[in-house]
Amino acid sequence: MNAVLEALQFRHACKKFDPERKIPKQELEMILECGHLSPSSFGMEPWKFLVIQNPDLRARLREVCWNQAQITDASDIVVILVKPDALKPDTDYIKAMFHRRNMPDDAEKAYLDRYRNHMQAEVEPVMSYYSWGSKQCYIALANMMTAAAAGGIDSCPIEGFEKQGAEKVLEIDTDQFEVAVIFALGYRAGEQSIRLRADSSDVIEYI
Ligand SMILES: Cc1cc2nc3c(=O)[nH]c(=O)nc-3n(C[C@H](O)[C@H](O)[C@H](O)COP(=O)(O)O)c2cc1C
Repeated sequence: MNAVLEALQFRHACKKFDPERKIPKQELEMILECGHLSPSSFGMEPWKFLVIQNPDLRARLREVCWNQAQITDASDIVVILVKPDALKPDTDYIKAMFHRRNMPDDAEKAYLDRYRNHMQAEVEPVMSYYSWGSKQCYIALANMMTAAAAGGIDSCPIEGFEKQGAEKVLEIDTDQFEVAVIFALGYRAGEQSIRLRADSSDVIEYI
């Protein structure tokens, strides 16, 4: 079977982690590197991956994550932060991200113009910079969960949290970063739940 398909069949949203099993450092680093290598719109990499290992911090984080046991029982918690303000057109961050491509000046200016026009015409009318940046963060989330599964490591994506509460517990400088999404990594304790999916024919269409 295709290795990616096999990993996706192994992956499930793990509700019950074995609190005794820890992910080896090298495996964890490999998973994080898969987040780091993820694609992002315009190559803006609007993320930071915060690995939470401190047990006290995790106990406090659990309180603002619907008291979900995964937060304290999993081997590692990764909080994906997004930097919404930096993504606005013509910030130093956006300029630096285009400048690193070493393009001729006129090409760099054309990219800055295209970015500004796109954000103003297509993104700003329908979503916030937090939402746009978070869309990129979810690509990294998916890649890391698939990478984990390929190595026999379980995960659970977690959107069940109080955003402001989580930012407070983690002492995030919200002028720079906001919490986009959280996920737990570790090893399942017991059987996975039954997988529910719509029929392929309902969600895949060729035209
Ligand atoms: C963005 C996102 C947020 C989620 N948040 C939670 C969560 O807070 N707690 C939880 O137990 N499961 C969470 N889930 C898991 C989903 O409920 C689960 O993926 C879905 O029911 C399909 O099941 P499966 O992943 O086991 O195939 C989340 C999934 C996604 C993609």
